[in-house]
Amino acid sequence: MLVSAKQMLEKARDEKYAVGQFNINNLEWTKAVLLTAQENNSPVILGVSEGAGKYMGGYNTIVGMVNGMIKDQNITVPVALHLDHGSYEHAKKVIAAGFSSVMFDGSHYGIDENIAKTTELVALAHEKGLSIEAEVGSIGGEEDGVVGTGEVADPAECKLIADLGVDMLAAGIGNIHGKYPENWAGLSFDVLKEISAQTGSMPLVLHGGTGISKEMIQEAISLGVSKINVNTECQLVFAAATRKYIEEGKDLSGKGFDPRKLLAPGFLAMKDTVKEKMELFGSINKA
Ligand code: 13P
Repeated sequence: MLVSAKQMLEKARDEKYAVGQFNINNLEWTKAVLLTAQENNSPVILGVSEGAGKYMGGYNTIVGMVNGMIKDQNITVPVALHLDHGSYEHAKKVIAAGFSSVMFDGSHYGIDENIAKTTELVALAHEKGLSIEAEVGSIGGEEDGVVGTGEVADPAECKLIADLGVDMLAAGIGNIHGKYPENWAGLSFDVLKEISAQTGSMPLVLHGGTGISKEMIQEAISLGVSKINVNTECQLVFAAATRKYIEEGKDLSGKGFDPRKLLAPGFLAMKDTVKEKMELFGSINKA
């Protein structure tokens, strides 16, 4: 059964580890994350971006697939199904479809509009038992080949949004999605410390979890980060394993590749990566 992310993140914050949010893009990714969580007795969050939602056929399809897989594969660890970087409209759609958690990313609005929309969605999400994540200070990343530096959030604005009753808060602290550039300045721990002081026991979320060093991850967790998002690293290992399989030319004579065999190496590579991240974040045996 899907659960809200609230309890698992409060436990993580209290016990000083982080729950991984692994983004899913298809059935293989979903199965790799769920089986790895179960094998390692770790709570887990499945992240779905709006683009991935569209690709997989829609939010109802995803809810059906994830609930079915939890049942058929006997997954008993806590699993939250979470919209990643949702717009106002899509936040409402996943609440109706049966997700158990939602992120409303209002960071591109002015603070007043971010507050108004977050307030409305907090009420809607909580009414249906979902947890809700809000964002202050946009997370940078690669767009059209240009890597933007991550914004650094204003701790006073973080407090304003945290006080609206959200269950977790993503604050920009120089983190970005995708690979970090060579000259990346690193995470702004002074700002994170201030955000943590201002927002009390609010579980904080670190986006852009690909390519952050072990030391930085540990320091971020010690300062209140309780959820870390990973997508790019899974994408890299999945693509590399699939490419290798194709290059080795194991096609069936005249019939092309068996689709199940074609995607199996990527699935196994993802399982290894997800386990590595769970070890790094400290969530193993915390279910
Ligand atoms: P990466 O793509 O850098 O792993 O970040 C994922 C993320 O933050 C999704 O919200």
